[in-house]
Amino acid sequence: MRFTMFCISFLIFPLVFALKHEYSQTGYKFQIHHGIPEDFNPNLVADYTFGYNKYNRSTRAFNLGVRFLKKIDSVTVLMETAKFINNQFREFVPLNLMFNICAAMKSELFGIKTLLKYGNLTTCPFEKGYYVMRNFVVDDSLFLPNIPLGQYKFTLTFSTHEKLLIKYSFVAELKNRKYV
Ligand SMILES: *[C@@H]1O[C@H](CO)[C@@H](O)[C@H](O)[C@H]1NC(C)=O
Ligand SMILES: *[C@@H]1O[C@H](CO)[C@@H](O)[C@H](O)[C@H]1NC(C)=O
Repeated sequence: MRFTMFCISFLIFPLVFALKHEYSQTGYKFQIHHGIPEDFNPNLVADYTFGYNKYNRSTRAFNLGVRFLKKIDSVTVLMETAKFINNQFREFVPLNLMFNICAAMKSELFGIKTLLKYGNLTTCPFEKGYYVMRNFVVDDSLFLPNIPLGQYKFTLTFSTHEKLLIKYSFVAELKNRKYV
């Protein structure tokens, strides 16, 4: 099951990021409602802050601060997606994905470097120290076409060698741009 998901992720991830460059969908409005810091590993992480704050009058942006207490030489992120159906969030398999951030950075896959210009999480491995990501604005046009409209919860689990680093969720709504 894990392996299948891993394979699927390699199909979806390039697609999602390729979109930013080659396909700009304009049908959606993607509104993030709130973020939920779920968990972090105090043996590896300190001074952890993750916010979705006002950036200017009309836009909010992600801000991350994290201190790694040890050198981190590998980071895997698992994104799980749940869709709000009949008053509860249910797992929504087509949008689960998992990838290795260090590997993606090394090969500069999928324009990941663009993401990193917002701070100094730019080298992998990460030496022990404090890192920031500032004012990262999510681009609506990054989303796949043909995703069902509705409310979603995205959970990002960052791990290193199967050990939790940080787990964070955010709740967002995908609306038809025509009706926003
Ligand atoms: C707020 O920032 C976003 C992203 O940089 C920009 O697209 C938008 O025009 C800005 N809005 C205002 C009111 O300054
Ligand atoms: C990253 O940037 C922050 C904020 O500017 C700074 O405090 C920190 O020392 C930097 N970290 C590294 C490893 O350069």
